[in-house]
Amino acid sequence: MRVLVKNGTIVTAENEYKADILIEGEKIAAIGMHFDGPFDREIDAEGMYVLPGGVDNHAHFEALNTDGVTTNEPYETTWVALQGGTTTIVDFCTNEPGMNLVDSVNYRLNVRAKGKVAPDIALHACCTDYTDETLSEIPKLVEMGVPSMKLFMAYKGTSLYMDDMKLLNCLEAAQKCGMLMMVHAENPDVLDKCRNDAAAAGHYEAKYHYMTRPPYGEAEAVSRAIRFADAVKCPMCIVHVSCIEAGEEIRRARAEGKAIIGETCPHYLVLDKHKMDHPDWHVAARWICSPALRDKENQDYLWKALNEDWLSVCGSDNSGTPQAQKDWGWDEENQRFDFRKVPNGCPGAGDRLNALWTYGVEAGRMTRQKFVDVCCTLPAKLNGIFPRKGTIAVGSDADLVLFDPTYRGTITLETNPTGVDYNVFEGLEQKGRADTVLLRGNVVVEKGKYLGEIKEVVMDGITYLGATGGQGKFIPGKPYGLGYDLLKK
Ligand code: URP
Ligand code: ZN
Ligand code: ZN
Repeated sequence: MRVLVKNGTIVTAENEYKADILIEGEKIAAIGMHFDGPFDREIDAEGMYVLPGGVDNHAHFEALNTDGVTTNEPYETTWVALQGGTTTIVDFCTNEPGMNLVDSVNYRLNVRAKGKVAPDIALHACCTDYTDETLSEIPKLVEMGVPSMKLFMAYKGTSLYMDDMKLLNCLEAAQKCGMLMMVHAENPDVLDKCRNDAAAAGHYEAKYHYMTRPPYGEAEAVSRAIRFADAVKCPMCIVHVSCIEAGEEIRRARAEGKAIIGETCPHYLVLDKHKMDHPDWHVAARWICSPALRDKENQDYLWKALNEDWLSVCGSDNSGTPQAQKDWGWDEENQRFDFRKVPNGCPGAGDRLNALWTYGVEAGRMTRQKFVDVCCTLPAKLNGIFPRKGTIAVGSDADLVLFDPTYRGTITLETNPTGVDYNVFEGLEQKGRADTVLLRGNVVVEKGKYLGEIKEVVMDGITYLGATGGQGKFIPGKPYGLGYDLLKK
């Protein structure tokens, strides 16, 4: 197939210019003007920005949720990411019950995800069951194209939790083979103390989720993680940074030349913690994610941090917990809602670009180049999949988003599906959207709609909106990505 994308304005992390893009097969063959036909297809991008397909650094599909029991929404729901302009998700592969990480990656690629993923998929390992074997698995994961791993410093009492010794051991092993370490940084004892104090005082409403996850608990864990990473000289990504105190730890570390990369997420940039004050607990529970949502002062800080690059990537942290699982917050025995029982996490892969464009670019808070950098280019570099992904260049995969800056709408579940039965951005104004999306040269979204068939998919007795026959390919990542470049500076 020879496809011409013409008359658009190409936006990369460095540049913006008018040019046509010639696609041959799955790759960008040339960028220029006046290409000679014949073409199998010509796509007119007049009035559109042509962006690299989005790369989402942080997605949890079919992964063990933070309660250590439930599973996040199935891979068939990944079409929502494509519809929102994300052509590659970097998904977390947790341990399957009783399985080591190497086998879990094979199981994920060959069974769980096979034929079901709509965008392309790269993987982070996510150790949720540390055993004697874990350290020897780290170089094997890298060889398999999984050059990053996440550890949870929170969720004590579940198999997700990693103590400091395990964290240090993993950092040492990772550093020897070019793996990036990622951490969920919250001090679990601070959380437990605050949560237990709230419960002892009879406070169980959803708002106690944010009231018992204080910024100092996040910042303490971030600072400890940074010290460990620096001692071992292993690059580290602090994921889902939510607040000033944690961001300041990263800003200082970067100023001192440490190889630390910060990630934040759309919900921390645009949503307020008071969402959890909703009088109906079923609704309030939807915004229970960790770290907790904060307030406007923190949002302003996070935008500044992204602009000034001590936070460098924006991942969705898509954790599609359906309402039926959010409803686990009901404590039958005591006949009351208890925020501690709610599985953490929000869906958001579909609205990552919408939120960043509307409240970043359109609001004058970031340039289009910065938008591309944090949503596409830096996540690809971080995960060793650049320049195949994350940019518009000759030889790169032809993953393109024809972004319509004139679109105006309101985010609703109907217009902005999430795969589950609610959207945490419901009611927000949206400016601009992915009008047409190409994945490796194939048009998969047109006029803002995914072209594949959408139907109900049942997993663990819960119905989701899924698409079957996913065309996504596994994109192996190379080790020694962006974090190791920082280490050399
Ligand atoms: O609450 C969250 N963030 N859930 C997803 C899992 C994680 O901690 O990233
Ligand atoms: Zn996390
Ligand atoms: Zn996450």
